[in-house]
This record gives sequence, C-alpha cells and structure tokens, in this order.
Amino acid sequence: MRPFCIGGVMPDTAAVILAAGQGKRMHSATPKVLHRIAGRPMIDYVVTAVRESGVTRVVVVVGHGADAVEAAVGGHAKCVRQMELRGTADAVLQARPLLQGDARIHDVLIAHGDCPLLTPSLFGELVQRRRETGAMIALVATPADDPRGYGRVIRDADGRVSAIVEEASASEKEREIREINAGVYSVDASWLWEHLPSVKPSPSGEYYLTDLVALAVSEGSRVYAIEAPMTVTAGVNDRAQLAMAEEVIRERIRRDLMVSGVTLMDPRTIYIDAGVKIGTDSIVYPGTFIEGSTVIGTRCRIGPHARIVDSRIGSDVTIQMSVVESAEVGDRVQIGPFAHLRPGATIEADVELGNYAEVKNSRIGAGTRMHHFSYIGDADVGEGVNIGAGTITTNFDSESGVKNRTVVEDGVSLGSDTMLVAPVTVGKDAMTGAGAVVTHDVEPGTVVVGVPARPLRRRRMPPA
Ligand code: UD1
Ligand code: CA
Repeated sequence: MRPFCIGGVMPDTAAVILAAGQGKRMHSATPKVLHRIAGRPMIDYVVTAVRESGVTRVVVVVGHGADAVEAAVGGHAKCVRQMELRGTADAVLQARPLLQGDARIHDVLIAHGDCPLLTPSLFGELVQRRRETGAMIALVATPADDPRGYGRVIRDADGRVSAIVEEASASEKEREIREINAGVYSVDASWLWEHLPSVKPSPSGEYYLTDLVALAVSEGSRVYAIEAPMTVTAGVNDRAQLAMAEEVIRERIRRDLMVSGVTLMDPRTIYIDAGVKIGTDSIVYPGTFIEGSTVIGTRCRIGPHARIVDSRIGSDVTIQMSVVESAEVGDRVQIGPFAHLRPGATIEADVELGNYAEVKNSRIGAGTRMHHFSYIGDADVGEGVNIGAGTITTNFDSESGVKNRTVVEDGVSLGSDTMLVAPVTVGKDAMTGAGAVVTHDVEPGTVVVGVPARPLRRRRMPPA
C-alpha cells in the first residue's frame, strides 16, 4: 500500500534520528536513548521502525554518551556527532554533509530517538502524504489531554498549520492548545538543507527545528499535518514516561504473540522482551518473565511464575516456578517447580528436573531424572541417569580456586546424598549408595558405598 516504495524500499528517502541529548529529566548517568524498554535500548526501536518502513539511508545524530550510543546503534545506521548540543535544528544540520550531495534523496525523514513507539506505517504514510500534497514539510500532530512539555501545533483560521510553538515560548493561550507536535517530519531534501542554516536561535540560545514550519509558511510553502495518537507518538523525557512507553510496547509484544498462536493467560501479568520467539500452541501462565534472546518451541507450558533469560527451549517442555538463564533445553523436558538452570546448562530431551534442582555449566543427558534437592555443576551427565535426592557435585577446590569437572556416564544410579568430589568419573551403569562421598573414579557396573566411597560389589541391573 505504499506506492512510493519499490519492493518495500524507499530509495529516495533518508532518515535522520536525533539522539544527542542528555535527557536531563531522566536524572541518570545513562544517556536517555540507552534506557531499556522490554530488553532493548530505546534508540533501537526508532532505528528498527525507520528501517522497516523501507528507508535504508539512516543517520543517527549522537552527542551525549556518543560512544555508547554508537555501539548500541551498531551497524544499523551511520552515526554523526553533534559536538555542542545547540538544539534540534543544529542536530539535523550535522547530518547534512552525509546526505546533501546525494541527488537521489528527495525526502528527509526526521524522528527523535526518544520516541520509541513510532511505527513503520506512520513513517510510510508521512512521506506519501507529503508527496501527494506537494507540501514542503509534512509533520505528525497528536491530540493530547495533557500537552505539557510538547510543542503546540498552531493552525490558521482555515485550519492549516502555520507554526509550531515550543512550550517555553508559548503564550498562555497557545499553551491551552491540545494538539502537540510529535517531532516526526518528512521534509523536501533540498529545501531542508537550504533553509536549516537560517533558523535563528531561540531566547534560550537553542536552534529549534520546529521554527522551520513558520519559515516554510512565510514563504508561501505548504505544511501538511497527519494525525497519530499518543500510543504511537509519545516521547520519553522522564522515567514515568519511560514506564508508560514500556507498557505500550509490552502490550504490542503480547498481542503479536497471541495473534500468532500463543496462549497468554492473564496477559498483563506476563512480561516478554522484544525479540523473544514462542511457537504455536504454547501456553504461558501468569507471573512469567521471558527475556532477552529466548526462543521457545511449540506446545510448551511455561509458568506460572517462571523466569527464562537468553535460553533456547525445545517443544513440549514444561517449566513451572523456575529460573532458566542462558540454558539449552531439549524437547519434552519437565522443569520445576523451583528449579534453577544457570548459564551453560544443556538439558537434553525427556529430562525431568524437579524441586530444587540446580544445574550450572553442565550437560544432562537424555532421559535423566533429577527430582529433588540437587546441584550439578561443571559436569557431563550421561543418558538415563538417576540422580538421587540431595546429590551434589563438589566441583570447587577452595585451595586452588579451580573448578573441576565431573563425569557421570550413561545409566548410572546415584544414591541419595551422594557427593561427587571432582575431578571424578562414575563409569557406565555404576551405582553409589546413599551418603557416598565419591573421591575416586568408579569402575563401570560397580556399586560403591561409604565415606570415602569404595567398591562393594557388581551392580545388578534392573530388568529392562
Ligand atoms: C521536541 C520538539 C517539540 C516536540 C517534542 C516531541 C523541538 C525544538 N521541540 O521537544 O516540539 O513536541 O520534541 O517529542 O524540536 N536532540 C539532539 N540535539 C540537541 C537537542 C536535542 O540530538 O541539541 C535530540 C534529543 O536527544 C531528543 C530529540 O532531539 O532525542 C528531542 O529533543 P528534546 O530535548 O527531547 O526535545 P523536546 O523538548 O521533547
Ligand atoms: Ca523529547
């Protein structure tokens, strides 16, 4: 539905995203646009939305915390530095050397890095309307119950936009206007570069980009406004607005997942980061957090009260009241209640991890069961192992500071309260008695008991 896009791309449009400000009202050592929303820095949402609208020439103006902001933008846009923060007009001017010489660019799309709710379709519509109407500037106006802090849209007797007045310089009457400037513009490229240097400083010494509107109108050029709601255009200047923006973004994430086939029970109690993927027919129960780069398969049951961070979860997995961090979980695994998978845990298919099971930097082989009060760290546990209640790897040597590895081969049965004192290997199909403290390697197929554990007899295997 975008006639000006060729194959979804807007090759004749460049975008400038303003992100040099400090964000004083955040009262933070972190630059404003790096504050996170649903797991991602705010600036990421704006850059992504601009790129998804089809614009590939994207310039981000950085200043405050420039190195960190540049790192966050990564390869998704070019960055230019604004040395002195002299206002939004001056910020856009910094992008001129990168864009002015390019004759293919007819449109400059301008947005603020502190408006994370902006959508690709709004950008597309704005560019399209400007061209259709032949306006020099198209901007986005938003009806606002509480317009405080925003520039107000001034219209003439015929309802045409004649100026934007910043709150600081607005008259009492102008302040009552409840239509605000969203700070998103599509501007004719050559007109912009020609007129930007003629913006005069405001009484506070700042160069307001918004002054371009009155300038265009005074020349007899047309300025056109499209309307979009606060749920798309809201800016983030303080942490209360940060929380409001986060609410909107999380709501969008939940909606997209539900529409794609994931059931969320009592959705508002479920917090899912941007970029998380969940397969169809999975059900997420209340009080659950799914964060970072987590990917979850189909038909899983997650929660209630689970927290899953940066993990890959297979299909048909159950995770209730547990924490899973940087772990890999295979198909049909059952986790919890009250289990903790820590970084580097690899849980293969059909494993059962029950109450108070903790696994760190270890592989747990397929079909292994670990039902009660156990800690497995820095270990390689084979398939079909039975880990008795209270089993732990004592993997840390507090004299050398070294963490040693434990190997438990396939089919082993570890009796309740077994201590595996690493480095140690328990051979295939071996068995330990309750309370065994295993300090030496155990031969395959043998039973060891006691403190320290010593061989007792050959193991009689249960009938298959
Ligand atoms: C600005 C608009 C206002 C609009 C509002 C919408 C101006 C003068 N005012 O006000 O009309 O209602 O946005 O959200 O444009 N920035 C720089 N360099 C600077 C100054 C600012 O890069 O020298 C960046 C900031 O990092 C921010 C954006 O520009 O991302 C807007 O600046 P901000 O100070 O937040 O402007 P507002 O007061 O919100
Ligand atoms: Ca702002």
